[in-house]
Amino acid sequence: MERRAGITALGTYAPANIVTNDDLAARMDTSDEWIRTRTGIRRRHVAADDEFTSDMAFRAVEDLVRRYGEEALAGTDLVIVATNTPDALFPATAALVQERFGLSAGAFDLLAACPGWLYALSAAKAYVESGQARKVLAIGSEALTKLVDWNDRSTAVLFGDGAGATIVEQVEAPYGLAPMVLGADGSGAPHLHAGAVGRCLPNGEPLTDKVHMNGREVFKFAVRVMDTATLEAIEKAGLTPDDIELFVPHQANFRIIDAARQRLGLSEDRVVVTVDEYGNNSTASIPLALAHALDEGRIRDGDRLLLVAFGGGLSWAAGVLTWGGGRYPARAGARDASDDAAGRAGTAGAGTGSEGSS
Ligand code: COA
Repeated sequence: MERRAGITALGTYAPANIVTNDDLAARMDTSDEWIRTRTGIRRRHVAADDEFTSDMAFRAVEDLVRRYGEEALAGTDLVIVATNTPDALFPATAALVQERFGLSAGAFDLLAACPGWLYALSAAKAYVESGQARKVLAIGSEALTKLVDWNDRSTAVLFGDGAGATIVEQVEAPYGLAPMVLGADGSGAPHLHAGAVGRCLPNGEPLTDKVHMNGREVFKFAVRVMDTATLEAIEKAGLTPDDIELFVPHQANFRIIDAARQRLGLSEDRVVVTVDEYGNNSTASIPLALAHALDEGRIRDGDRLLLVAFGGGLSWAAGVLTWGGGRYPARAGARDASDDAAGRAGTAGAGTGSEGSS
């Protein structure tokens, strides 16, 4: 049988602490109206002072176990955590996850800006399809608000925190991931960056430990790359845009998402929008959007989902995932009333996520 990797389980988490646009307007020179019309964001979930990327990754995995049962984790032999905000440079956050859940697994972090979770998905696909791993726990977890300069209104209003955890393993065709598109253009580094141990970029631009962004340049790049990367991914899957049941893009800005939707000729009911609820939580954004759509019953087995993300690097990734082929008893969406408050906050259906927000 053709080895094909697919997602068979999913769990998410978003911090309980919600910051609205009005909350931000009370502490900086901005307004709900400016933020909503420029970005589509209404509120964002912000990690508590003592809540970090590993904590959110743990919560997302716990949600996955609650939804699908303990057996979903059994036999995991590789953990990848895509993040731009690891608790530490080492050990890898993935090793902390390995230890917390008692997994007999290799573990590494993957740093590829906002497309990081899609990069992790493509790495997981390669490990599974080559036979080097059987079951990969691929997580996106982000405490991005800790990198934000709260005195810089041009970036502070955009970002949020959260996590999503997925199991990637072999599924039977036609389910699973088509070949993915990965791209990077390091000449765009000056437009979006945050420092670590280096002092400056190769062009001499100094690095600080806060997010620096040239919004207009990133906007232009994002619109362009959402267009080219999605079409390339659809072509790699041997499909046309008409074959896509649901478009699940990175949630950075509603205007960027809507421009891509229109270029693809998709109707509004075929795109998932959660940026209004979460803002841009980087590597967590697509898993949270997937959970939102699953909880609303918008994804059925066999549906072809178009995933795409862009971010610092500049970098991008895209792919078509045919949903389904999982073999665990409980299916996503089958949450019960005993879910705790953290779990409820952790689903993308936390209350106000909606499609076609503006
Ligand atoms: N509140 C009020 N005014 C703000 C503001 C805020 N939070 N942030 C910036 N402004 C001001 C600017 O200072 C500027 O004022 P000026 O004209 O007097 O100089 C004005 O609003 C317009 O700024 P502009 O950059 O033209 O706005 P825009 O329509 O391009 O929207 C972004 C700005 C950041 C929302 C938009 O460029 C964007 O979304 N870019 C992509 C960012 C992104 O996706 N990053 C993450 C990638 S993973």
